[in-house]
Amino acid sequence: MAEPWWKTAVVYQIYPRSFRDTTGDGVGDLRGIIEGLDHLEWLGVDALWLSPVFRSPMVDHGYDVSDHCDVDPVFGSLADLDELIAGAHQRGIKVLLDWVPNHTSDQHPWFLAARSSRDDPKRGWYVWRDGSPDARPNDWCRGFPPGEPAWSWDETTDAWYLHLFAPEQPDLNWDHPGVRSAMHDTLRFWLDRGVDGFRMDVVHLIGKGNRLPELTPDEAKAPVAFIDVPATHERLREIRSVLDEYPGQRTSVGEVYLLDPARVADYYGRGDELHLSFNFKPMFSRWRAASWARNIAETSSLLDRAGLWPTWVLSNHDNPRHRTRLGGDERVARAAAVLLLTLRGTPFLYAGEELGLEDADVPLERHVDPSGGRRDGCRAPIPWTADADHGWASADTWLPFPLAADRRNAASLLADPSSILHLYRALLAARRRSVALQLGSIELVDAPDDVLVYRRASDGDERVVAISFTEQPTAVDLPSLTVEVSCDPDRPLGEPIDGPLSPYEAVLLTASPGA
Ligand code: NOJ
Repeated sequence: MAEPWWKTAVVYQIYPRSFRDTTGDGVGDLRGIIEGLDHLEWLGVDALWLSPVFRSPMVDHGYDVSDHCDVDPVFGSLADLDELIAGAHQRGIKVLLDWVPNHTSDQHPWFLAARSSRDDPKRGWYVWRDGSPDARPNDWCRGFPPGEPAWSWDETTDAWYLHLFAPEQPDLNWDHPGVRSAMHDTLRFWLDRGVDGFRMDVVHLIGKGNRLPELTPDEAKAPVAFIDVPATHERLREIRSVLDEYPGQRTSVGEVYLLDPARVADYYGRGDELHLSFNFKPMFSRWRAASWARNIAETSSLLDRAGLWPTWVLSNHDNPRHRTRLGGDERVARAAAVLLLTLRGTPFLYAGEELGLEDADVPLERHVDPSGGRRDGCRAPIPWTADADHGWASADTWLPFPLAADRRNAASLLADPSSILHLYRALLAARRRSVALQLGSIELVDAPDDVLVYRRASDGDERVVAISFTEQPTAVDLPSLTVEVSCDPDRPLGEPIDGPLSPYEAVLLTASPGA
């Protein structure tokens, strides 16, 4: 049987507020994404993941949902989303929505009902504790802003409610059957409209329900990174059965924000929980050959042997872009692209990394992120053109453009065949034509210090990747292989490597004639 599409796919994350604005309000919208589909098809991605586009008061820019089954007017309409899904499908691109199961907005009708009276039928849909306003139920802290309590006192009904993020994001109580069935129905609503699956926001948290686990005082400072209870697996099996009701390999990728890959691996269950799970530990590792050799070995030993499929991600809407994190050098950003797109597992690109973007410098007075501005820089608008409005309907955008947008924009990079944009496209094309890169085994190969070499192989197809992590030219001994893609635009293609790898150079090599 053919492998499921989500194993061979490269997924492209869009943060809709920041992709492209067509209305002039300075916020990206669904029509902007529809206009961007040509770019994505040209680039060669297989699937899109849209961060939340549902109705929301936007306290957390859409991760505070007030209606799971409608599109927020700032992004457009349901009809626009239908058109976007159809347009993507016509191009062979799948669409994943971002499902937010742990919490809702405090403006969601469910929470408005729940807080209206202790006797309301929806009261038990959220996590409440009795007590007095000067004694919090426990010492848990919330995500936004970090260090503040995860409990707020509700004056209407004299009780505490739990919110692991902002007070405007009350946690749902998944122990309640009403929550389970209503949230399952929100999945069906979108599956019926043809979406191919979901990225599931902090989905590892849902099993806590009303029974709160014990955490140590240190863990209580960031419960989101430590809550890991057995009940979540039962909840995930139920969610998986909903997806399995539908034909066409609908999929799930969970944001399991546990920084321990062994615990992340548990969330795949026995093939009956998540299809894929983000593994964030490598995202925070240093740019060193030894660190990445460890990441590869650890992932293989935890997942590959159990038949589970890894994911890889270097940037997203919650963390500094990897180019910024790794020091800003474009040669490193190029090498990182080779790494990400040649590993064994499903890679996730964050919109704009194909343009080599760094974060924006966001002055204090323009901070809008509820976590204290920490995530504003990586959410800067995508520059499409070189002029002042960078292809947006207004130059007055919700966040400033990223650094060097006059050079790092889609139009300027498209015109330059040696640009990082063309490198991403070449890598995506190379991945698509090689079963070894899409599905093959991965094996580390002996290499000089500061160089990472691995071999990918499947069904007689083979690729070798060599990545230099140093500014020193470094000799590698890889005879009888020819260069298919290099991040150094001066490297001749179709020939063996003659001489050392150039500083921070990464190459994709093939033994397959005519590749
Ligand atoms: C994780 C999401 O990625 C982040 O952006 C959001 O703020 C929190 N979950 C809360 O939903």
